[in-house]
Amino acid sequence: MAVERWTPDSWRTKPIEQAPVYPDLGALSDVERQLSGFPPLVFAGEARKLKKALAKVAAGEAFLLQGGDCAESFAEHSADNIRDFFRVFLQMAVVMTFAAASPVVKVGRVAGQFAKPRTNPTEKVDGVELPIYRGDIVNDTEFSLQGRTPDPRRQIEAYRQSAATLNLLRAFATGGYASLDNAHRWMLGFVKDSPQSGRYQEVADRLTETLNFMRAIGLDPETHQELRQTDFYTSHEALLLGFEQALTRVDSTTGDNYATSGHMLWIGDRTRQFDHAHVEYCRGVKNPIGLKCGPSIKPDDLLRLLDLLNPADEAGRMTLICRFGSDKIVDHLPSLIRAVEKEGRTVLWSCDPMHGNTISAGGYKTRPFDRIMSEIRTFFAIHQAEGTYAGGVHLEMTGKNVTECTGGARQIMDSDLHDRYHTHCDPRLNAEQAIEVAFLVSELLKTERASKPAVEHAAE
Ligand code: PEP
Ligand code: CO
Repeated sequence: MAVERWTPDSWRTKPIEQAPVYPDLGALSDVERQLSGFPPLVFAGEARKLKKALAKVAAGEAFLLQGGDCAESFAEHSADNIRDFFRVFLQMAVVMTFAAASPVVKVGRVAGQFAKPRTNPTEKVDGVELPIYRGDIVNDTEFSLQGRTPDPRRQIEAYRQSAATLNLLRAFATGGYASLDNAHRWMLGFVKDSPQSGRYQEVADRLTETLNFMRAIGLDPETHQELRQTDFYTSHEALLLGFEQALTRVDSTTGDNYATSGHMLWIGDRTRQFDHAHVEYCRGVKNPIGLKCGPSIKPDDLLRLLDLLNPADEAGRMTLICRFGSDKIVDHLPSLIRAVEKEGRTVLWSCDPMHGNTISAGGYKTRPFDRIMSEIRTFFAIHQAEGTYAGGVHLEMTGKNVTECTGGARQIMDSDLHDRYHTHCDPRLNAEQAIEVAFLVSELLKTERASKPAVEHAAE
């Protein structure tokens, strides 16, 4: 079958799900024109570097840690929030790297994670029906006609915020903050007296000892870039396609098209129809692509999507982000793995233990921590049984001390949720819960890597 020609706007000829209805199309195209003249947020070379790193993960040589807010918000954009998120992320990565002796590829759901797919197009409060909130890049959480009407100027604000966030993250990643010598300083005040704190201190102490040992034998950590800085990448759901199209650029060195709104994009579980707009857009850009796989995806759908999105079976291109739910994963994941293995396709398997475990309690959307942990455990166990590699986790998390997911070491109860429930969309792990997940993953990863037959690697 002949493949149709792709252009950055060929998605416009396809049916589309989850598209906001803008009342002023003239204003929308003005904004898109403006965005298309703005500088790229990320560079093609960086996206290629991430793809290489993800190829190593797919080959079982590293692990992917992807996480951040469900939805970034304009109101909560501050240096403190970005720093707190980044330091929990670094703590988690150190725990995994050190305990499991595995390189960790760090990808934030950040600097562009603004657009949200929703189950219902409208919301009714006291008999009044208005458009649903679709993320700050589209409309406002405020329940009023003005607030909920999609406003294209919000895309400019999202671009501005992404640029500012990315600028700070780049400074943190390369300017000394991420130096392993700082591992003790990443501890957040409110985590200090938690059960996770002692475990983390131990890891940090061992790290300090290791660095001191290196110094003692004459290896100066200061001269080793790997110890002083880190590679940190950004990702978001490629949902608002007009925005993505406006930030699509041809890379001058290869002539290929790249989305420059973030290093990695993913396709949501609600927008992965193979003949629809979102898959069409993503198939033409060369970035690493994530594909959310929920309970409704069938092995044949998945293979068809892999053919479309990665016809050359390039390693590092496809990350399958599995989000079935702790009670459903056993019914769905093994058949997908077998189909992919049978066809010999190269993918990175990652576990999103958040989106299949959302429940309602006391008027709040929440996620029980033990179900999150259970889905991760089962994910590793299934891969172990199938002889494949559990390569990553995808989390909704924050550096703040929120009360959005129940359970965890502090046993957050349904009745505590109202206390610090700040999310604009789905419930996130707080910093303590996120570190607890990192310890679980590092245990599982250690076992996984220990049972893996030693592979001879060709010199790079
Ligand atoms: C999300 O990642 O916030 C999301 C909406 O996920 P999914 O597409 O898996 O439902
Ligand atoms: Co979410």
